[in-house]
Amino acid sequence: DILGARKNSAGLNLSNENDLKTIEKAFGRIRTATGNGLPVTNPADRSDVVGHVTYAEPGEIEAAFAATAKGGPAWAALGAEKRAAILRRAGDIMEERLPDLLGIVIREAGKSTQNAIAEVREAIDFLRYYADEAKDDAAPLGTVVCISPWNFPLAIFTGQVTAALAAGNAVVCKPAEETPLIATEGVRILHEAGVPADVLRLVIGDGPVGAALVGHKDTHGVVFTGSVEVAQLIQKQLAEKQLPDGRPVPLIAETGGQNAMIVDSSALPEQVVADVLTSAFDSAGQRCSALRILCLQDDIADHTLKMIKGGLDELALANPQFLATDIGPVITEEARDRINGHIEAMKGKGHAVSQLPLHADAGKGTFVAPTIIELNSVSELAGEVFGPVLHVVRFKRAGLHKLINEINALGYGLTFGLHTRIDETIQDVTSRIEVGNVYINRNIIGAVVGVQPFGGHGLSGTGPKAGGPLYMRRMVLDAPVLKGG
Ligand code: NAD
Ligand code: ALA
Repeated sequence: DILGARKNSAGLNLSNENDLKTIEKAFGRIRTATGNGLPVTNPADRSDVVGHVTYAEPGEIEAAFAATAKGGPAWAALGAEKRAAILRRAGDIMEERLPDLLGIVIREAGKSTQNAIAEVREAIDFLRYYADEAKDDAAPLGTVVCISPWNFPLAIFTGQVTAALAAGNAVVCKPAEETPLIATEGVRILHEAGVPADVLRLVIGDGPVGAALVGHKDTHGVVFTGSVEVAQLIQKQLAEKQLPDGRPVPLIAETGGQNAMIVDSSALPEQVVADVLTSAFDSAGQRCSALRILCLQDDIADHTLKMIKGGLDELALANPQFLATDIGPVITEEARDRINGHIEAMKGKGHAVSQLPLHADAGKGTFVAPTIIELNSVSELAGEVFGPVLHVVRFKRAGLHKLINEINALGYGLTFGLHTRIDETIQDVTSRIEVGNVYINRNIIGAVVGVQPFGGHGLSGTGPKAGGPLYMRRMVLDAPVLKGG
């Protein structure tokens, strides 16, 4: 039993009538927000105002660090067991409020109901997992700055914050500017569960606010998840800084991927179709783990691609307010235009492109037509295209090692999938591919906390993996080496 006594959160079951009623009741309470400040609007329908925020001024940032400097030592002295109990309580509160949290995640981040349920479940799992992992065998760093992305606006946000808190640190956290509201709820729940207000401080703002937090003199560690470009900026900023004892400021940076899946001619076609569609188009392709490059062995390529296109035609691209929606919007107008720009550039270069048509209401929000683009080789793809776009290349069996070298040469190393029924191929490919998470004969998304620690290397991140036993070791000074670590 990998989980031991701990169980991952069950969430809600959309095929269960009672669960459905609970969700509908919560959604029935949703009203358009009124208020002052910057409006946060629904990417599926920009006329839907979810809430308002104001970005932190320098004085508020100073106040946050002054608070954590004061509150941090008592939190560390509380001991791992008491900290863990508070974090577990927060997990229980989140579970009770799941339907209401769903309403915010769906409207603020444009997630489908199924994805939103998984989002809240993962946040709860992080709370319980890091609570279990909390130890008192090393000194905490002090104040840790947590900076998170919009694509897992509660799960990753909660994971970063919880790990830092469980390790005995105080936290100043900044969620992505696109999704501040669900993070605000997350912090409210943590405070309600018993994390003191001067131990956990929320700061709302955009990139410059994040840079101010990283550069603050009292920042003793940084946990970042987001783009490679911002991770590199943070690393440069930290290179200028040091801890009070002269050591470097620890950083965990989890970044993007250029994730591939190899399918050979022994694979089960129906399973491949389902797993490819989920990997590439779930969450509108806005997962760091999402499939970007599908590599099909040439003798099954035409047939498999035809089946994948047929499967794509069956998916519902729509506003996530409908339970049947499979693919929702992308996060912003800027993201939509960037992804469409890539598709147009590929068309311009003469690549074959197939697309699902946009629905009638697409113009109300920021939808991108799910797209399949055929390439001649893996190396034709430059950076991460963060949306519902799947690239397909064909390979010959004799060229398998060359293909793996090309995938490795992209420089990322996050997720990878392999579909084959040949054991030797599994051994061969997995021994050569350089990524953090390998998935065999299944989809390549949705790593489960405590079961599949998640993270990459190369351009994809620094490690240690989130949801695994080593993650919190970066958040303390002189952590003893774990057995087997
Ligand atoms: P982003 O890098 O644009 O922003 C992430 C966070 O960094 C936001 O909170 C943003 O405000 C902040 N930020 C921006 N500039 C900053 C600066 N100069 N200093 C400090 N903070 C700054 O990323 P995004 O668009 O929010 O998220 C999408 C990216 O995240 C994709 O590349 C995706 O692959 C990656 N991602 C990785 C993982 C993983 O586990 N490896 C998980 C989710 C997302
Ligand atoms: N943990 C997320 C996934 O695996 C990023 O899809």
